[in-house]
Amino acid sequence: MTAPAGYRVVSFDETRADEMLSAFTWGFAQRLDDSGREEIRAMFPWERARGVEVADSSRGRVGMLAGVRSSHAMELRVPGGGTLPAAGLTWVSVHPSHRRRGVLSTMMRDHFARARARGQAVSVLYAAETAIYGRFGYGAATPHRKIDLGRAPRLREVPGSEALAVRLESADVAVHGDAVRAVQRRLTRPGSPVELGDTMVHEVFSDPLGSYRDAEQTRIAIVEDFDGPAAFAVFRRTMQWGETGAAGRVDVHAWGAVDARATRRLFEAVADMDLMASCHVVVGGDETLLGLLDDVRGVGLKERDGMWLRVLDVEAALTGRTYATDIDLVIGITDALLPTNDGAWRLTASADNPARIERTDASCDIRMDVSALSTALLGGTSLSALHAVARVEECTRGAVRRASRAFRSDQHPSCNLMF
Ligand SMILES: CC(C)(COP(=O)(O)OP(=O)(O)OC[C@H]1O[C@@H](n2cnc3c(N)ncnc32)[C@H](O)[C@@H]1OP(=O)(O)O)[C@@H](O)C(=O)NCCC(=O)NCCS
Repeated sequence: MTAPAGYRVVSFDETRADEMLSAFTWGFAQRLDDSGREEIRAMFPWERARGVEVADSSRGRVGMLAGVRSSHAMELRVPGGGTLPAAGLTWVSVHPSHRRRGVLSTMMRDHFARARARGQAVSVLYAAETAIYGRFGYGAATPHRKIDLGRAPRLREVPGSEALAVRLESADVAVHGDAVRAVQRRLTRPGSPVELGDTMVHEVFSDPLGSYRDAEQTRIAIVEDFDGPAAFAVFRRTMQWGETGAAGRVDVHAWGAVDARATRRLFEAVADMDLMASCHVVVGGDETLLGLLDDVRGVGLKERDGMWLRVLDVEAALTGRTYATDIDLVIGITDALLPTNDGAWRLTASADNPARIERTDASCDIRMDVSALSTALLGGTSLSALHAVARVEECTRGAVRRASRAFRSDQHPSCNLMF
């Protein structure tokens, strides 16, 4: 992998944890105490750690890690219920002395090459700033929507919900990691990470940056149905007293539920605790909890971009999902960073047959950059909406409408875990 002059690309392992943490704390303006450092050491995906190192003294101290990154291994649910092998890019940081010299660009090209070699069809991430990743072909694929349920929100009845068992315990990854894995495996919503690696599971239980420093220890609620764990919420309560009495807050760090019954049972327990006045929850693109609320306006919904996705392998990504209508279409893809994706592809699919894709010399019906395809892959933003803002070009009359209908997903995509 070619690096900017004076730098080289390297793998690194846990023996360089202090250097990695230095790049990270500089990048994200963080102070870490000893327990935070230990937590990060335990949850960092060391086996895929890569960085860019100073190779020339004119650039700084030779051997210093100027930039770091790693990735989690996971499978990502796509429309139709199948999954795609995915790389969850994480811990991306460049030391400020080395920024804007192409260190991130080098790390991204390196990430794409290695993830493709591992057979990963897409790369996904959460962006610290929205302006960073579009240039690398990523598109915002799921929303991040945050609400405050208050205390004991009125939730619509769901038959069978009352009968589900719920237990509240102090969270421990060694004890409860398998329950989290089991719930994730049952999630059908596009964008859900399933088949989590150890580091992803660890992250669900961790708070290395001390964001909940004043809170109690980490707790977990687990709902079970006949098939086993059906919902979980990892949460922390912070006790506060206001002028008129108790005003504690619940922060739900991560949660997942397989259906409306389990969702209702979960939040009946987590959002109705003595002495608590608020319950802060990220619902992502999952409309279930919002759909159960009597007073949707009262929860003060705030929305921003959630998980970003980058198609690494057009063939695998487009044949891995299903389509809502029959489709036979030539799609032109522009991909400046991965030429194997670049060009015209004929996509054919029907309700009864799996999708097929092949390269073609035929003229394109629609054209788009890989970042638009990445935005649309999970069905969160329609191709018509992308056409309306000039991110999809129509070459054959009516083709955008046909393609847009086919790319629809029954369930709105959501990623319920941050990484
Ligand atoms: C964001 C960050 C990783 C960028 O690293 P970098 O090595 O400076 O990036 P590069 O030099 O490769 O920049 C590539 C291009 O992206 C642009 N870019 C980089 N960071 C950007 C930002 N935060 N906002 C807007 N544009 C940005 C550069 O200007 C450059 O554009 P150009 O190709 O038109 O010249 C680095 O500044 C950093 O670590 N920031 C703090 C932590 C962080 O945000 N990490 C990302 C976590 S998701």
